[in-house]
Amino acid sequence: MRTEQSKTIYLKDYQAPDYLIDETHLTFELFEDHTLVHAQLVMRRNPALSADLPALTLDGQQLELLELKLDDRELTAADYTLTDSHLTLQPTQASFVIDSSVRIHPESNTALEGLYKSSGMFCTQCEAEGFRKITYYLDRPDVMSKFTTTLSAEQHSYPVLLSNGNPIASGSEEGGRHWATWEDPFMKPAYLFALVAGDLWCVEDKFTTLSSRDVTLRIYVEPENIDKVQHAMDSLKKSMKWDEEVYGREYDLDIFMIVAVNDFNMGAMENKGLNIFNSSCVLARAETATDAAHQRVEAVVAHEYFHNWSGNRVTCRDWFQLSLKEGFTVFRDAEFSADMNSRTVKRIEDVAYLRTHQFAEDAGPMAHPVRPDAYMEISNFYTLTIYEKGSEVLRMIHTLLGNEAFRKGSDLYFERHDGQAVTCDDFVKAMEDASGIDLTQFKRWYTQAGTPRLAVSETFDAVAKTYTLNFTQSCPATPGQSDKLPFVIPVELGLLDARGNDLPLRLQGEAAASGTSRVLSVTEAQQSFTFVDIAEQPLPSLLRGFSAPVKLSFPYDRDQLMFLMQHDSDGFNRWEAGQQLSVQVLQELIGQHQRGEQLVLDQRLVTALRTLLQDESLDQAMVAEMLSLPGEAYLTEISEVADVDAIHNAREFARQQLAEALFEPLWQRYQANRELSRNTAYVAEAEHFARRSLQNIALSYLMLTGKPQVLAATLEQYEACDNMTERLTALAVLVGSKFEVERGKALEAFAEHFKDNALVMDQWFSVQAASTLPDGLARVRVLMEHPAFTLKNPNKVRALIGAFAGQNLVNFHAADGSGYRFLADQVIVLNALNPQIASRLLAPLTRWRKYGSERQALMKAELERILASGELSADVYEVVSKSLA
Ligand code: ARG
Ligand code: ZN
Repeated sequence: MRTEQSKTIYLKDYQAPDYLIDETHLTFELFEDHTLVHAQLVMRRNPALSADLPALTLDGQQLELLELKLDDRELTAADYTLTDSHLTLQPTQASFVIDSSVRIHPESNTALEGLYKSSGMFCTQCEAEGFRKITYYLDRPDVMSKFTTTLSAEQHSYPVLLSNGNPIASGSEEGGRHWATWEDPFMKPAYLFALVAGDLWCVEDKFTTLSSRDVTLRIYVEPENIDKVQHAMDSLKKSMKWDEEVYGREYDLDIFMIVAVNDFNMGAMENKGLNIFNSSCVLARAETATDAAHQRVEAVVAHEYFHNWSGNRVTCRDWFQLSLKEGFTVFRDAEFSADMNSRTVKRIEDVAYLRTHQFAEDAGPMAHPVRPDAYMEISNFYTLTIYEKGSEVLRMIHTLLGNEAFRKGSDLYFERHDGQAVTCDDFVKAMEDASGIDLTQFKRWYTQAGTPRLAVSETFDAVAKTYTLNFTQSCPATPGQSDKLPFVIPVELGLLDARGNDLPLRLQGEAAASGTSRVLSVTEAQQSFTFVDIAEQPLPSLLRGFSAPVKLSFPYDRDQLMFLMQHDSDGFNRWEAGQQLSVQVLQELIGQHQRGEQLVLDQRLVTALRTLLQDESLDQAMVAEMLSLPGEAYLTEISEVADVDAIHNAREFARQQLAEALFEPLWQRYQANRELSRNTAYVAEAEHFARRSLQNIALSYLMLTGKPQVLAATLEQYEACDNMTERLTALAVLVGSKFEVERGKALEAFAEHFKDNALVMDQWFSVQAASTLPDGLARVRVLMEHPAFTLKNPNKVRALIGAFAGQNLVNFHAADGSGYRFLADQVIVLNALNPQIASRLLAPLTRWRKYGSERQALMKAELERILASGELSADVYEVVSKSLA
């Protein structure tokens, strides 16, 4: 457990590797009760360093060393030093070969890192530092090697044997075993290594690249899931084509494989030529996966495929550079999804997620820059900051450079660094060199943590016909960073006249107006921009498309927000105006609740939403997004001190009032859309997602009225629909309703029907875990005893415990501290089973500073209890100790 790795690693200590590994030849003998790994490493002194020969220290954990040779000479214990994380020996020549044999135990590996078993198959997860649990190695991304891998296993149980690259030989052995050899022609770091052995079926397809090469595409799944693969295959082909068209990137091997596994810590992994996926990110068909699940599969397939260039061909020098590949690849997959579906809706979803979750991370004890400069356990840095904020940083570069220069920059980056392990600085340099734009100050986004605040005020001079926007930026202190320097903040904006039209924009000093939506770069702590030829007081539309990940404030009144909701030419900002209006209204209700007053809903919100519902010309997905009130987690994030009960009560009160006041238009839109759903076969496309999203949010409002015709409609939808999107919504609506009998029946029928489908059962757990009816914790405890639940499967942990702590805020934050105690208990158990999952699960407790003093004390006490609970993994130790610091 926590030994050498609990010390802090610093970026400033980076040193190039002393030795390189030109070739890696691996042989795996897979057995039921152990696995033997033989590694032959063809090594040499790093020629960039001096000619002397320092000691060679290989990484290795939980390995039983059976044999070690240096250039064919058997080494004895006197020739090397062995600790629980390293093997050190002394080379005698500049070039040499190391042979090692180790025994490992994938069959009892519950951490799901390195080689492990999942539902009877062998698979690997090596990023970030899992390869050291497979064999002794230089397990760092700047050591790149050419891999050849042979695996052998019992043929009947493991008919499929896969690794990276191309298959080059195979055969059978006596005793019912067989073997296969794979060769990967591309140099790669160990974190991109993968192997799979199992009883799998595959769907095969083909893609012809831009330069007319045929690539075989295979998606491997357990036999019973073979009917749920087509959507992922379609998504893969779309991704391959998109990367050619938008980035000029072609696939480079003759075969590309995806394997779905049931036990996986994250979403998926981009191993060269052999992506390994959480089955939740591959399997999708109408009857068992929601629209959201279909979109997630499309996005994750794209993400991992895009890594072949942004990650594999050009990789990271060290793990501090993680966002180099993750931020860039998230930006790429977000743009892909925007092109495949509705661009505005995708942006709304991403921004809502970022502002709720990444902003909370940036304001908490684990806040870190996009390029961190220190960590204890790198697994803790696969964060919203590295991924989502990293993607926002790339989006800002794209905004500042424009599409054409950005593409030139990415071409230059790939050309300059193909086959290399590089840094975020190298990426930015390529963007600068290709565009001629200096990004020196911009790079503060990589080094300063925290969410910048941007306060905006206006001055209008009717006589001079000038309109001035005054910007003031600041950034709160974060751990280890008390003072921040100004960021470069691209602010896209427009100015609306009294009829809601965009005015032509001409800044003081410019010869003529250019455009009606422009990007201003705010680079100073305080800065003003004056527009000329402005005859009447305009209304500004600021930060269009959320052009920077900041907290912008402008003193809009509610009537102005209603005006923007209707007239802003930027779809994102129409939604944003609605959110700001809702926030103002909800914060007023929260105040009323806290003062013990009667709650009174501002009727302007009712009017605004009625206008939307009655306008049939609007994009239905947009209407659905605009009907969704800001979530409790977002209201928590923007509170100074979060009052859990007031937030919940205020929001529920508003929903109830809206449901009653808007019953007629909601009912009409619901029925029209349900009618269409009834008469249309399921299609996983944007227009259909849109129809169902409006239908489903309408139903969830309607049920708040408790009217019998809504119950009847919900039951009809539940029973008669042909897809999981409608069925799960109907179930969730029943679960949150007062109709106890129908709720019980539906839950039981659902579980009976889907008991053999683990991913659907995850949804069944989540719907119940998220129900804010009283006694939530008791229900979760009962569900933990359900035969389909196990702490060993990360999807189950997330679906039940994660959903309870993350989505059921009133129950999790019960004033008696029972929710906190429960979560800490689970973290303590998981710490021993699966440290990565344990450390992620405890995130809600780390936010204790957000709450009132009683809850703070209860949450801290649980963190302290975890700290004192015994030997902690580095993962849990880092998060708990930083949270208490
Ligand atoms: N590189 C993967 C992705 O984002 C993430 C895998 C990281 N896994 C882990 N256990 N840290 O596509
Ligand atoms: Zn990734």
